[in-house]
Amino acid sequence: MADTYDLTVIIPTFNEEENIAAIIGAVNEIFLRSSIHGEVLIVDDSSKDRTIEIVQEIAGQNDNVRLIVRREDHGLSQSVVEGFGAARSEILQVIDADFSHPPELIPRFYEAIRHGADIAIGSRYMKGGDIEQWPLKRRVISLGATVFGRILFPEVTDPVSGFFAVRREVVFGAPLAPRGYKILMEVLGRGRWHSFVEIPFVFKDREEGTSKLRPDTMVDYLRQCAGIARFSISRRAGPVWEEWTKIVRFGLVGLSGILVNMGLLYALTEVAGLYYLISAAIAIELSIVNNFVWNDIWTFGAVDNLRFERKVQRFGSFQAVSMGGLVINMAILYLLADVAGVYYLVANLAGILIAFAWNYGINRHYTWVRA
Ligand code: GDD
Ligand code: MN
Repeated sequence: MADTYDLTVIIPTFNEEENIAAIIGAVNEIFLRSSIHGEVLIVDDSSKDRTIEIVQEIAGQNDNVRLIVRREDHGLSQSVVEGFGAARSEILQVIDADFSHPPELIPRFYEAIRHGADIAIGSRYMKGGDIEQWPLKRRVISLGATVFGRILFPEVTDPVSGFFAVRREVVFGAPLAPRGYKILMEVLGRGRWHSFVEIPFVFKDREEGTSKLRPDTMVDYLRQCAGIARFSISRRAGPVWEEWTKIVRFGLVGLSGILVNMGLLYALTEVAGLYYLISAAIAIELSIVNNFVWNDIWTFGAVDNLRFERKVQRFGSFQAVSMGGLVINMAILYLLADVAGVYYLVANLAGILIAFAWNYGINRHYTWVRA
């Protein structure tokens, strides 16, 4: 399709007569102010109220406003995907009609994609992001959904956000299986992308109309998570697969380190006759070296593997992070066991898990940042 525009703003709607004129006006205003040659694409699921009439009237007066009225396969995600297919530009933005997503941020998403990101995600859960006026029940449900999403995409703070922009190649021809509300999860799970950025925003609850979120949307969502996991495992590729192979490998390397540690402690104490604390210090250090070597070659497959001085740098960093992890493990063990009275083996397990998250997170983003 000919790219007539710089940007397409896709607005899915269902019964949005109170908001639709205002949101189209706001988006057009932003196009004007930011010199973006943009189009507004309303994808409506046969609204029962006056939404369609209102959009038709606006579209009659504005060349860059288009309406698609869907008659079957009702659904927010399906509508967005239909919008992807009909857009006349390289860069696609999705935004809700009810002003929950501040339209003023659209130029930032647009610029992020123009500067190379494949996906720009509006995040409520990063620094600077927030949710206003949500009842506790909704916050809890949303947080639950986010936790599942973040298991699949540990790198993304808000994988269920409905506010995002994407380069068309990411979704073009991708095997998206749109269902339910969380279209971004599909894009992340099945789209073809390499990089993303997150843009913090404050989600404001709608002032007009009602949310269409229903309990069966949650069942849909869990199915969707399972579908993405299955898809990633069967293909053995893609972002979910790549991140999780790293996490699993890092964990296996950690286990190998425990074996090295215990084996050396035994051998140095019993066979070489060293004092057990001296053996332990040597055993700990050598298990850190063991872990580093395997993580460097296997887990993160460092690209500049062969440059000795880089390797030394990475080792220094890994060593420091590991010591930090040790301190975290001990601190949590002490706090839980001694202060909170938790059984010490359980306390230690919590310490190990948190230290693992620390070790993985920092090493992933710092030590092997370019791997
Ligand atoms: N075409 C179409 N079909 N549009 C729909 C449908 C549908 O079945 N259901 C809702 N919409 C439109 C609404 O008109 C609105 O523009 C937008 O999709 C979001 O719908 P809301 O009902 O206001 O959603 P919400 O506020 O509960 O959920 C929002 O937050 C979620 C994250 O917590 C949305 O932004 C979701 O996309 C987001 O995942
Ligand atoms: Mn809403």
